[in-house]
Order: sequence, then C-alpha cells, then structure tokens
Amino acid sequence: MRIHVEDAADQALVAKYQESGQHHIFDDWEDLDSSQRRGLLDALQKIDLGFIQQLIRDHMVSDPDHPPIATPTPPPLISLEDPKRELAREKGLEAIRNGELAIMLLAGGVGTRLGHPGPKGSYPLLPVSQGTLFQLFAESLWKLQKEMGTTIPWWIMTSPSNHQETVQYFRDNNYHGLNSSDVIIEPQEELPVIDARRGRILRSGPGKILFSPDGHGGAIRLLQRNANWFRSRGIKHVYTHQVDNPLAILGDPEFLGLHLLDNSVFSSKAVAKTNPEEKVGVFCQTGEHLRVIEYSELGEEERHRRNDDGELSFRAGNVAMHMIDLEFILGDESGEIPALPMPFHMANKSVRHWYGSEWHESDSPNSVRFETFIFDVLSQAPHALVVEASRDLEFAPVKNSSGNDSPESSRAALQKLWAQWLIEAGIELDLDDQGQPKRTLEISPRLACNVAQLKKVLDQITIPDEGPILIR
Ligand code: UTP
Repeated sequence: MRIHVEDAADQALVAKYQESGQHHIFDDWEDLDSSQRRGLLDALQKIDLGFIQQLIRDHMVSDPDHPPIATPTPPPLISLEDPKRELAREKGLEAIRNGELAIMLLAGGVGTRLGHPGPKGSYPLLPVSQGTLFQLFAESLWKLQKEMGTTIPWWIMTSPSNHQETVQYFRDNNYHGLNSSDVIIEPQEELPVIDARRGRILRSGPGKILFSPDGHGGAIRLLQRNANWFRSRGIKHVYTHQVDNPLAILGDPEFLGLHLLDNSVFSSKAVAKTNPEEKVGVFCQTGEHLRVIEYSELGEEERHRRNDDGELSFRAGNVAMHMIDLEFILGDESGEIPALPMPFHMANKSVRHWYGSEWHESDSPNSVRFETFIFDVLSQAPHALVVEASRDLEFAPVKNSSGNDSPESSRAALQKLWAQWLIEAGIELDLDDQGQPKRTLEISPRLACNVAQLKKVLDQITIPDEGPILIR
C-alpha cells in the first residue's frame, strides 16, 4: 500500500517501517485524519526500530542466547539474628541525618493482574480509612523525615501511561502532607508491545502504537539521566521499593547501615522461602557475582536442597527492596556515567489491541513486552549484599485481584502486624486463632511506623468500645 506523505523525513520513516515487515501499522492510514496521521508518525519517530527488530530476532525468532549459568551456590546472607544489626542501625541513622539518602518508588508497572483503573498506588488498600498505597508510603516518609529532622527526597518512577494521573493524584491530595518540592515524579521509558505470533508492533487503537514501560530496570536509566540532580544534593544512597508492597520499611536505617558496613554497592532484602515450589526468584552466588535466578531456571535438586538445620539452601527469595550505592550507578565525580548494560526479558501478557481494522482480545497471553530488571545490575556489582527480612513484617504484595497476594491477603497481613504492635505496647485486643484482630484495624504511619514509635504516643490513643479501630 502506498502511503503519501509530503515531508522527506516522513517518507523515509514510512519506508523504513514498510521495509521491516511492519507495514500493517499503516493499514487504516486512509481512515485517519491529519492530526492522527501526525500523531502516528511522531510515535514511530520515537521508536528505535533497529533495536526493536534486534530484540524480536534475538528473543522471538531464534531462541534467546542464554549464557550458561555458573553452578549456583547459596549467597552469603545476613540472617535475622545477626548481631551486627544493632550497630548497623546507628550507622544508617547517621547517614540519613546527614542527608545522604533518597527513596525511589517504582510505580511504572501496568498492574494488569490487579486490574485497578488508575495508577496502582491509588488503590484504596487501607482497611478502615480506605486510604491508598500512595498515602501509606507518603505518611511513612513524613514520619521518617520528622524523626530524622531532615528532608528525604522521594522519587516516584511512573511510566508515560500513568504519569499524568499520578501527578494529578498527588496534587489533588496535597502530596499527603509532604513538601511538594521533595516529591519528584518522573516517567521511565517505554517500548512498543509486540504481537506474540507475528512479531509485529501492536496498536492500541487506529493510528496509535501500543507502548509499555521498559521494566523496573528503567530505574537505573532514570537515575543516570538525573545524575546531576543527585550529585548536587550530596545524595549517596537510594532505597528502592515497589508500589505493591505496603509493608516496605521506607529507608530502613538498619538495612542502610548493613549496606554501609559491608561496603556493598547493591544490597537487597530477601525473605526465606519455606516451600521449594514457591515461584519466586532467589539470590544465588554464581562465580564472583550475586544474581537472581528465576524459579524456572533453578534446577530441581537445588530447589529442594536443604542445610543440616533443615532450611532450604536456596531460600533467599527476592522481595524487591534494594539499597543502591549511587557511585556504582552514576560513576565518580569525573562525570562519566558507567554503561551498566542489562539483558532484556520477555513478559507475555494478554492485551486488547487493534489489528486489521478491528479489536482483538484474548484470555491467554497474546503479546510480548520487553523489560529489563533492576536486579540485573548485580552482575556488574563489585560487591553486593543480601539481608534477610521477615515475611510477616515486611512483605505482603498486592498483585492479583483475589486470592494469594491480593488486596485481601495484604490487608490481613497489615492488620495482623498492627495488632501485634498494639498488644506489645500493652493495649488489649481480641485476636482470632490466626492472630487476626477481631475488629477491623488501621494505624496511620503518621503516628507510628513501628512498635517503638507506637509506645511513645500511647497517651494519644483511645480505642472505641466497638466497631472498626482507626488510630491516627
Ligand atoms: P510487576 O512485575 O508486578 O508488574 O511490577 P506490574 O506491571 O506492576 O503488574 P502486572 O504484572 O501487569 O500485573 C513490580 C513492581 O515494579 C514496578 C511496578 O510498578 C511494581 O512496583 N514496575 C514494573 C515499574 O516501575 N516499571 C515497569 O516497567 C515494570
């Protein structure tokens, strides 16, 4: 089909796509008005087609080239009982008070499984107030800033598709009490989504390319793009957390201290897998480096191997909380940014898309998204650390709309934890035989983010005689 465009650059662009087997993009060119045509050409201009074609060839046409994984061994792990933790806490607190820490929320995902309209952070998770995930994190950060007597910048990585809504959310909610200049919201990059069968670029509607964020590894590129910002403020460490885990301890001083004491450049929290078949990536030592090995990549023998004490040898499950040394990512003062290349992975998801002048839908995955993962920089880290965390205290993700890792299970974990704090602080509370409070319960992080903080404000707490308990 001949596409008529005036401009020579546009002609070259159209020819490039047609010659690369992506001519279907212009199927409904005749039905588009001039602004839709311009929009389509501008979107195509943004895509590095050669790079995308290479990804398609390497991952979809031929089998991806997996370099053999050196025999993995369990990684050194700072256990929950490690006596270093107390000393580490002081060290971490000192670095935070010196203004060396920034926090980055990874909130660029599409959240297909949860299916919430709007950014995942705007999901109303809190059991009594119906407050959102964003609110919970913002109030935790507010509290940390107050306790530390310092400002801790909060970077929120969005993606082009949820950026505007996220910015609007924070404006509408007055940044949940944070200083707006300390909340920096910036989108990661995106790549076109590919038809799983034909290797073609998909469209989200007539004349519109379907884009998807390029994975949470995009956070590394975002940090690098903003190197001058971080350097000029004297920030040395970034704590990253994910939008779907309300139990993340923002900027955890103990974690930061362990990272510093160990001279680590990339530290990660891990929770112990108790079931060998739990489908979570685990930290492993391979050769000189740490890496995350996906459940499917770990051999049957390794998955089931146990230590003398009965614990799984490969149990350090990745829960996506990292402490990153900025010099590792940004290079030193000389200003040269290190390359840190990361491999691309394929995510297969089902998506509604526009093809051959009609909509297509599928219950099974029909599309491929190319993503990099933040932890893949581990292979270039001169020294990395894994720190064990308690699942009950730190990990209750909201991934699915029901069942495991859903709002329901996450709320239950939050309430169980808050109930334990109250009981430990000396307040009477009825629990069921699962340890769940019998009444719906919520504690605002503005008041307390842990039991020690709760004990300090006991005089401000009154428990109503009946009904839901909201402590704020
Ligand atoms: P998930 O792997 O759970 O992906 O992201 P998702 O897109 O949010 O959800 P599904 O798979 O479609 O249901 C884990 C974390 O990484 C962030 C997400 O926002 C979440 O905090 N993420 C993921 C990004 O920031 N960018 C991405 O490109 C992908």
